[in-house]
Parts: sequence; structure tokens; C-alpha cells
Amino acid sequence: MIAACGQRVALIGIGSHVPERVMSNDEIATMVETSDEWIAQRTGIRERRIAAASDSSATLGAEAARRALESAGIDAGELDLIVTATASPDYYFPATASLIGQRIGAGEVAGYDLSAACTGFIYALAQAYSQIAAGLAETVLVVGTEVFSRLLDWSDRSTCILFGDGAGAVVLRRDDDRHGLRGFELGADGSGALLLSVAAAGHAADHDEGPFVRMNGPEVYKFATRVVVDSSLRSLEAAGLGVEDVDVFVPHQANRRIIDHAARRLGLDHARVFSNVDRYGNTSAGSIPICLDEAWRQGRIGPGDIVLMVGFGGGLAWGSCVMEWTKERP
Ligand code: COA
Repeated sequence: MIAACGQRVALIGIGSHVPERVMSNDEIATMVETSDEWIAQRTGIRERRIAAASDSSATLGAEAARRALESAGIDAGELDLIVTATASPDYYFPATASLIGQRIGAGEVAGYDLSAACTGFIYALAQAYSQIAAGLAETVLVVGTEVFSRLLDWSDRSTCILFGDGAGAVVLRRDDDRHGLRGFELGADGSGALLLSVAAAGHAADHDEGPFVRMNGPEVYKFATRVVVDSSLRSLEAAGLGVEDVDVFVPHQANRRIIDHAARRLGLDHARVFSNVDRYGNTSAGSIPICLDEAWRQGRIGPGDIVLMVGFGGGLAWGSCVMEWTKERP
């Protein structure tokens, strides 16, 4: 799916929230046979955040949402819709979006969850854009939130080193003048679906996988390096822009080597690439909005900048989005 955004939709608010508890690579090395050196060299990850027992995807997401609303200067009651991207919801139902809506005092706002794993935030942005463009909503909160630490088999060193917990949120609004969202490319290849999966209650009863992340790392790595580049180029083309127009590249934070490979292939110099994978690991649907928020608060993204975002992961799905930054500096 490739699309240019014909309607004007602006990003007016952004926020993120990560748990306080830091888990270092050295701490993981006390649980499985690995080392800080191995993890840092193969992934770029040094540490990640782990949710407290009282935290959930809804509580982390609600805190990110509060911050996004505060930065937008609007009340939760002004929202028409909440779209939550998560692969680690509090419940199958109710939707995490309902729980977040209640926590932030959004009243009887419409809301639902979207399952597209690490591509979830990009899919949710596309959903929010579509609802606004179709006239169904004017102001939409998009939340990417995960507590992946509870989906990990902590005795599997090939997966437990990679993920962390956290949430990010943005507020989008129909705008008369500012053309924020510019282009999308979304896709998925179900033939690779079981290369990266977590079984849920509805899967075939004679096929017990356990409720943990299962992954073929090398195959997912090959897939990721291919789609990050291809999808980025397609959404730029949809937006009528080129790599030379990109001010900030915000890829999904799965592995520093995947990010560096993509940046090299796209011809993006280091200064235009934002990454925090060293501090948070892979927070799945939380990763891109957490990056956007940090980049904005650090002054790395400002009004008028062209931001290229790209996500990939379970599905195997991918998606990218080109946006002109419409939010004033903090
Ligand atoms: N510590 C030490 N050794 C480890 C290890 C760890 N945490 N995990 C795996 N190894 C070992 C393997 O057992 C293997 O040993 P062997 O050669 O004796 O059999 C060796 O390291 C190489 O394993 P391999 O899986 O080929 O490593 P890799 O270079 O592909 O790196 C990943 C593994 C997981 C870091 C890498 O494949 C990756 O990042 N893939 C993409 C994953 C991803 O991003 N998923 C989420 C997408 S949203």
C-alpha cells in the first residue's frame, strides 16, 4: 500500500514514558550465558527499561498520552478517537485504548487496539490519518505502548537481550494550513509470519508454542535490512520527496546494525539518524514515538523538518511514513 496524503493533518502533541527500572546487559549475563560485549557488539543495546509489577501497557501508555496532551495544550475531552498500537495489551479485551481513555479522563471517546507488532505505530498513524481524512474524527491520540518484558522467555538468550518496555504517544489534528503527514507505505508478508511470533489463546490447540517471543534472528535480520531501505524509498516517492530532503531519519529501534546498514544504503549521514536503542533496546510499538519525543525535546527535530520513520517486525510487517514536523519547539 503506497499513498500520498492528500488531506492536511498536523502533529500537535507528543510525549513518552519509560519505566524507571534499568536492566543492564551485565544483569542479563547473570541469567543467561551472554556478555555486555556480545550484546553491545551485535545489537548496540547497553540497557533497557523493565516495567514495575504495578505497570502495564495501559499505565505506561496513559502517562505518555498525558504528556502528549500537555504538550498539545489540549484537554483529553477534545479527543475523538484513541488508536493504541500494542503487541502486549493488558487484556484481549477491553482494548488498551479504553483503559488509556479512562485513565486520562477522555470520557466516552472511541478507541481500539491495533496489532502490527513493531510496525504498530506506523500502522496506527496511517489509521489516524485515514479517520481524519475521511471526516470521521478531527483530533486523534495515537499511542504505541509495550510491556515486552512479560512476553520474554528469560532463559532464551537469543531473544531476552533484545527487548524493553516503554510507551510513546502523539496527537494528530485536522489542519487548514499545515501539511504534516505526507506519505505512507505499508506492507506485510505472511509467508514469514512464524519467523517472529508470540502465541495467543486463539492459536491451534495442538500446536503449543508457549506465550513467549519466538524468533529466527538471522532471517528477521535479513528481512529487516531489506524492507527498511525499500519502504523508506517508497514513502519518500509517495510524498514527492527524496533522501536529500530528509532532515531526521527515525527508524524502529531493533538493532543498531540494522539502523546503520539502512542509513548507509540510503546515503543518510550519521547526523540525520536518531537512535536510542543503546538505552531502551527494542520497545516494539513504543520505539518510534519514544524516539520522536526524545528527538523533539533535545532540539533534534523542529518545525518544517522532514522526518522519515520506518518500522518492521512481526507479520512480517513493515511500514514507513514521511512527515513534515508541525510542532513548535518545546
Ligand atoms: N550471547 C552470546 N551468544 C549468543 C547470544 C547471546 N545473547 N545469542 C546468540 N548467541 C550465539 C548463538 O548461539 C550462535 O552461536 P553458535 O555460532 O555457537 O551456534 C552465535 O551467537 C551466532 O548466532 P546468530 O543467531 O547467528 O547471531 P547473529 O549475529 O545473527 O545475532 C541477533 C543474533 C538476534 C542479534 C540478530 O540475528 C538480530 O538482531 N536479528 C534481528 C532481530 C530483531 O531485530 N528482531 C526484532 C525485529 S522487530
